[in-house]
Formats: sequence, structure tokens, C-alpha cells
Amino acid sequence: MRQKLAAGNWKMNGTADALSELNELTQGYPEASVDILICPPATLIDRASEAAAGSAVAIGGQDCHANVTGAHTGDISAEMLRDAGANYVIIGHSERRDDHGETSELIAAKATAAYNAGLIAVVCCGEHLSTREDGKTLEHIGTQIAESLPDTANADTTVIAYEPVWAIGTGLTPTLEQIAEVHDFIRAELVKRFGEKIGNGIRLLYGGSVKPANAAEIFATSNVDGALVGGASLKAADFSAIIDAL
Ligand code: G3P
Repeated sequence: MRQKLAAGNWKMNGTADALSELNELTQGYPEASVDILICPPATLIDRASEAAAGSAVAIGGQDCHANVTGAHTGDISAEMLRDAGANYVIIGHSERRDDHGETSELIAAKATAAYNAGLIAVVCCGEHLSTREDGKTLEHIGTQIAESLPDTANADTTVIAYEPVWAIGTGLTPTLEQIAEVHDFIRAELVKRFGEKIGNGIRLLYGGSVKPANAAEIFATSNVDGALVGGASLKAADFSAIIDAL
């Protein structure tokens, strides 16, 4: 039985004021039957971790460097995230792949860095609209997954988020059949590569315009173990409604 996970990615949103939303969330979930994660901007991780202490809400980073230390101005290592109180890190979000030219090979190296620091890596994949229109979604996802996951990935250290790029922040979502098709495909690929135990244990999140109104039907879809939520994770009330739909 895979533990459900509701993950919020605040992206480049939030200054100290945003901690009031986090406080509202942590007060609402001193404990929970599902896993809850908020990934605030790096500047808030320290304070967010303190605010979430003693609640069911875990804190994560949105990216990390593949190296532990060194001359990498502006970057943050997995160990630094851990030191600031994070337990998770998002790796290979399409905004990192597109805005920063991150390759799947680099993402696999970052995932390994996350494991070494004791963080759970939320490894993202997803197709652009043109890839879907060309009928190449599964091929694309298969390649991204194969190249972005280290051989050492397992169910305790790795979560996969499927986020169709065209559904992110657009209000558009794939049909439930399309979500199921990709999630079932990822599950089969994981079982093929890692075997039944690990392959069936790794959690698969859907991401892309998840909101209170569509969360329940998405969560009822085959092989969907939760969501990676952007915009609707910024307000405690919206995110709570999504958590409650899990
Ligand atoms: O990582 C979450 C994200 O990319 C989805 O964003 O705003 O469509 O929920 P949003």
C-alpha cells in the first residue's frame, strides 16, 4: 500500500508574509493520514521548517546542485537543504529543464546527491504539447524516466511527479484516461527496471492545474498516489481541500 502524498510547490512565490498560510496549514494538520509536503522558495526553508515542526507538514526544496560543496555561485546543495530542515527536494521540474537547460543525466546526478544527503527526491517528468500532438508522449516519458532515475532509486527515497508541461498553470488538465495511460505506463516501466517491490512501491504524483474542484477525480485515477500542486498550494484553504480529497 503506497502512502498518499499531497505536495505543494510554491515556485518563486512567497516572502515572510507567506508563512501565515503555512501556519494555517500546520495548525490544520497536527497529524494526518496522508503525507503532506510544502516546497517554499529556498529563502523560507529554514523558517518554514521551524513553523512546521511538530505538525504533519514536511518541508522540501525546489532544486539542488549535484555537488556537495564548491564554486557554484547561487546554487544550493542537498546537504544545505537538509541542514535547513528539508526532508524532500523536487528535482527536474520542467521549469528547471526548460529555463536552465537541465538534462535528464544532470537530474539523475541531482537525485543521487539528494539520496546522499538523506532527502527524498521528487523527480519530475512531462511532455510539451507538441510531443503529445505528435503521439510521442509515452516514448518521451519513458526516456525521461529511464535517464533521470539513478539505479539506486527506491520507494523510500524516490517519488515521481508526472506533470504535462501544457497543463502547468494553464487551467488545462489531461483527461482522466490520459492521466491513467501515463501513470500506468510509468508504473510498468518502474516494475520492469526495478522489480515488483520497488517498482510498485515508488509513489506517482500527478501535477498540472490540480485544484479543489478536480482533485478527487484525479486521485481516483489509476496509479495516482497524490499530487504536486503549484498555484493551489499557495493558499492554505485550497491546499487543505486538496489534501482532504486524497
Ligand atoms: O510543480 C507543480 C506545478 O508545476 C503545477 O503547477 O500551478 O499548474 O498547479 P500548477
